[in-house]
Amino acid sequence: MKKGMLLVSVAAAVMLQAGEAPASPETKSVAMEGVSYIKMLGKELKGELKKHLKQDPTGLQAAYFCSKSAQELTNKVNAKYPEGVRVYRTALKYRNPANKPDATDTKVMEQIEAQMKAGTFKKKPVVVEVNGKERVYVPLIVEKACLKCHGPAEKIGPKVKETIAKHYPQDMATGFTEGSLRGVIVAELPAKKSTN
Ligand code: HEC
Repeated sequence: MKKGMLLVSVAAAVMLQAGEAPASPETKSVAMEGVSYIKMLGKELKGELKKHLKQDPTGLQAAYFCSKSAQELTNKVNAKYPEGVRVYRTALKYRNPANKPDATDTKVMEQIEAQMKAGTFKKKPVVVEVNGKERVYVPLIVEKACLKCHGPAEKIGPKVKETIAKHYPQDMATGFTEGSLRGVIVAELPAKKSTN
């Protein structure tokens, strides 16, 4: 078990450090496939978020929607992917314990944050192999619209605060500023069948 973990983290480090080196055609096609699945979920979630924020700019209705339906919508979109494909959201400072990162997720997000600090970050997918499966990570950067529910305390309305506290008593996902890493969307693709 321990050995497996080590392999994973080494793989993650290698892929991320590859940095400027041109990705192999295979890595690129994995990234493109993963990103296409990620876009499906991202579009659904963001569409709903925008719709609710427009109807109620305080963010209360949107917060209510997210707490009630984000998981459900994620499951619904996942049911449409080919077998073995899974897309999920996670974060270092997560709101819903169901979105808790695993060791590889954590490693990738820590590396992205380190790159942001060092000024070497580029918003592009990161491909990591985990136990023979490929994971494609797309970073989620905090925009102004996110601050209503993930920003510093003074940016979050009292009713929104109340709703979040009620549904997520262990919430860690506040205090973010624009431009920081909120989390990632991850597509996990099944292991490719060996051809040799
Ligand atoms: C209206 C309030 C609201 C806004 C605005 C909002 N979020 Fe969230 N966000 C939530 C709630 C509530 C959850 C927990 C959903 C769940 O139960 O899965 C959440 C969860 C997440 C998660 C999953 C990881 C976790 O912490 O559980 C990510 C990633 C995320 N939000 C990113 C963003 C980004 C990026 C933006 C801006 C584009 C944004 N959110 C805007 C309320 C909001």
